[in-house]
Amino acid sequence: MAPGLFNFSIVGLPDTAVKESKDRVSSALKNSGASPPSRRNKRVTVNLAPANLKKEGPAYDLPIALGYLLVSEQTKFDPEKRLFAGELALDGNLRPISGVLSIAIEAKNRGFKTLFVPKANAAEAALVKDIEIIGAANLVGILEHLENKKLIAPHQNSEINLSSAEKEEEPEVDLALIRGQEKAKRVLEIAASGNHNIIFSGPPGSGKTLLAKALASILPKLNLEEAIEVTRIWSVAGLLKEDRPFLSQRPFRSPHHTASGVALVGGGTWPKPGEISLAHRGILFLDEFPEFSRDVLENLRQPLEENTVTISRAQGSLTFPAQFLMVAAMNPCPCGYLNDSIKECICGPHQIIKYKRKLSGPLLDRIDLHIEVPRLKYEEMAKESFGETSKTVRERVAEAREVQVSRFKNEGILTNREMSIRHIKKYCFLDETAEKMMKSAVSSMGFSTRTYHRLLKISRTIADLDNSENIKPQHLAEALQYRPREEV
Ligand SMILES: Nc1ncnc2c1ncn2[C@@H]1O[C@H](COP(=O)(O)OP(=O)(O)OP(=O)(O)O)[C@@H](O)[C@H]1O
Ligand SMILES: [Mg+2]
Repeated sequence: MAPGLFNFSIVGLPDTAVKESKDRVSSALKNSGASPPSRRNKRVTVNLAPANLKKEGPAYDLPIALGYLLVSEQTKFDPEKRLFAGELALDGNLRPISGVLSIAIEAKNRGFKTLFVPKANAAEAALVKDIEIIGAANLVGILEHLENKKLIAPHQNSEINLSSAEKEEEPEVDLALIRGQEKAKRVLEIAASGNHNIIFSGPPGSGKTLLAKALASILPKLNLEEAIEVTRIWSVAGLLKEDRPFLSQRPFRSPHHTASGVALVGGGTWPKPGEISLAHRGILFLDEFPEFSRDVLENLRQPLEENTVTISRAQGSLTFPAQFLMVAAMNPCPCGYLNDSIKECICGPHQIIKYKRKLSGPLLDRIDLHIEVPRLKYEEMAKESFGETSKTVRERVAEAREVQVSRFKNEGILTNREMSIRHIKKYCFLDETAEKMMKSAVSSMGFSTRTYHRLLKISRTIADLDNSENIKPQHLAEALQYRPREEV
């Protein structure tokens, strides 16, 4: 930045928020007692390098203001190894910005000693160890600190306290409250154990939405590494709150069926993570599945396979993590009562075909567990005795996950769903009877290779829940039940 004549301009592909920075910075400087560029009648050019990368958001306000104060000799400090980020309000106060956790991680990796952020972001930044975090309320506070007039104490390292979070939040829906639907509950347990995707199909009011919510209550708690991964994504999306600077619960996202492709998978001129990334390490619930636009749903194919999503832009591509457990729910037909035991379906065959066509074969092929959720019989509905609680099931899920963690300790994966073909060869051994069963199933039901691999993974999870080293015929037989009866 060099003092010049008359003006204040920002170059280096700024977005609107960055361009408007000059107004905020000028006003904040004035209200902090400094002399802004307009008063000094000089031209100031702020060059955000490298020039070919787009700059986004208001986080540059603070460094621009400090840079200006330095070159106009209104302050004196050594900027070496110090990184500044923050939005300035017109009165000189610092406002929180998004993405602070990622900024702090990057700052540490690049050898910065101190990171200055708005006070409201300090706890989030302080999740990163080995870098000093100074959280300031306003520009004057930062200047006084830098000029050694009034020091701000570094923010203490924050801990993601996962054990206290456990006590804090009761699950929204406990499994014990769901009557009947034993098969669907069993599927929830398998899905939670091996991280497999589910699609529920059934008439209105049979409990599909309820079951999806209950899944959140049986998933194991996030571990520290996972919590940081998820927090980073939420931080970039600007969704963290000041009083909860990190996520300790697995996310549960349920975008509406009118959601656009960008909202679902991410993107935009300045790419932002979409719902599938916000659901990273948690649940993505797509209720009324066929109501989503087909093009939007097709976007899920790559992330479902690769657990990441890549957004291509002229300047290069960007990859967000998207390792989510998808739960989709649908009615079997537009009126909802196809194959129902009591109500008659009023849809014509053509309508049913059209409804099902909205879901492409390749997409359904990527869903591991297909399950029908029928209407409850009166006896089940009125039954007062409660089934297992979420806590009991969660313990079994945790055990099955431990088996997987120790099996995959040198493979860099955590759950059965993530197995590659190489892992499947190594860990999904069928005994002779099971092998025969698989052979006849594949030839009679016309499974694709992908389905074949999926079946092996699900069988592996069922065997893990049964504490069995090998996949036995009963494990495969159960996995086969969860394939759709008719390939759509
Ligand atoms: N198995 C069940 N046990 C206890 N309550 C249930 C059960 N099934 C449904 N209910 C009750 O019915 C309500 C509706 O259930 P839910 O919203 O899960 O149905 P749905 O299958 O998602 O229906 P729709 O297809 O219309 O979305 C729930 O809020 C719950 O109170
Ligand atoms: Mg529903």
